[in-house]
Amino acid sequence: MDLQAFLTALDELTKQASGDFAAAGDSEALEAARVQYLGARSGRLKDVQKQMGALPKEAKREGGMSFNACKTKVQAALEEATERLGSGGATVSDSAIDPTLPGTKLHIGRTHPITQTIEHLKDIMGRLGFSVVEGPEVEDTWHNFIALNIPEDHPARDPLDNFYLTVAGKAVVDASASEARLLRSQTSTVQIRVMENTPPPVRIISLGRVYRPDPPDATHFPMFHQMEGLWIDTSVNMAQLKSVLRLFATSYLGSDVSIRFRPSFFPFTEPSVEADFYWNGSWVEFGGAGMVDPNVLKAVGYDPEEVTGFAFGLGVERLCMGRHNVTDIRDLYRNDLRFLHQF
Ligand code: DAH
Repeated sequence: MDLQAFLTALDELTKQASGDFAAAGDSEALEAARVQYLGARSGRLKDVQKQMGALPKEAKREGGMSFNACKTKVQAALEEATERLGSGGATVSDSAIDPTLPGTKLHIGRTHPITQTIEHLKDIMGRLGFSVVEGPEVEDTWHNFIALNIPEDHPARDPLDNFYLTVAGKAVVDASASEARLLRSQTSTVQIRVMENTPPPVRIISLGRVYRPDPPDATHFPMFHQMEGLWIDTSVNMAQLKSVLRLFATSYLGSDVSIRFRPSFFPFTEPSVEADFYWNGSWVEFGGAGMVDPNVLKAVGYDPEEVTGFAFGLGVERLCMGRHNVTDIRDLYRNDLRFLHQF
């Protein structure tokens, strides 16, 4: 395209647009004309602009300036027409609405208290250098038990204490069968998945749902959430475990919270402890922890002579309930908006 033809097209466009805007009898017609000429995607002005690319190099400067002048004229014509037609009833003039009154609060949705808690916990642990990983809720017995050093005859594997799934239409009655699948009963499964896929060092948390067939009462629910933590490196020790949990507890529950360890037993840690926080005048158990058992390190191909680590698993509901003084875990899952709106 040569410059002359381009300039003629611009003139033509300016004339037509001004004519159409001036002829528009109401705001609808004007809007249609606006879209036709100034529409962002397929307006005629846009089309002409595209042709500018085909101008010879030495004509581009003049072409560009003329295009801008044309656009300004078209826009001015639109403005003039808009003024002529008035604002078309877009103002709140009289009676019905008093725009000076304060607004009504909108009942928009909000995040569930457990989701809020999870975000908060991720934030705190992120500042302590832990990154977040996810793991599946349907697990095999390797990740839920075997690699975690939970032997075949351990009561934790009992079908009465787990949600085993039917596989290919059949209930797997033998809980030790390798094809058995279950809803994970603990997030410790994610420790195994991470270590299987990552060489040390590892510093992760994983937050998610776990399932146990407990009858619901004020402190039990068949589905709840855990925050699993794992730190593996060349010389991680128990003192660091305590420091991390103390920092976590004071960040989440408040600076006056103390922490204590009680000796305990978990197959996947040695030594093992229960972690209690002093909260609201009494010691409350928030979960278990310990130094990762060498058998677990071996199961994932780590060398227990080279690396050590600690792990912990805390109850998310319990933390949320502690912080917000909720006394019945079932309240979190009744979906009663009067309850949920308080968070
Ligand atoms: N998995 C344990 C449970 O569900 C909690 C736990 C204890 C996790 C000790 C850990 C740990 O990582 O080291 O009861």
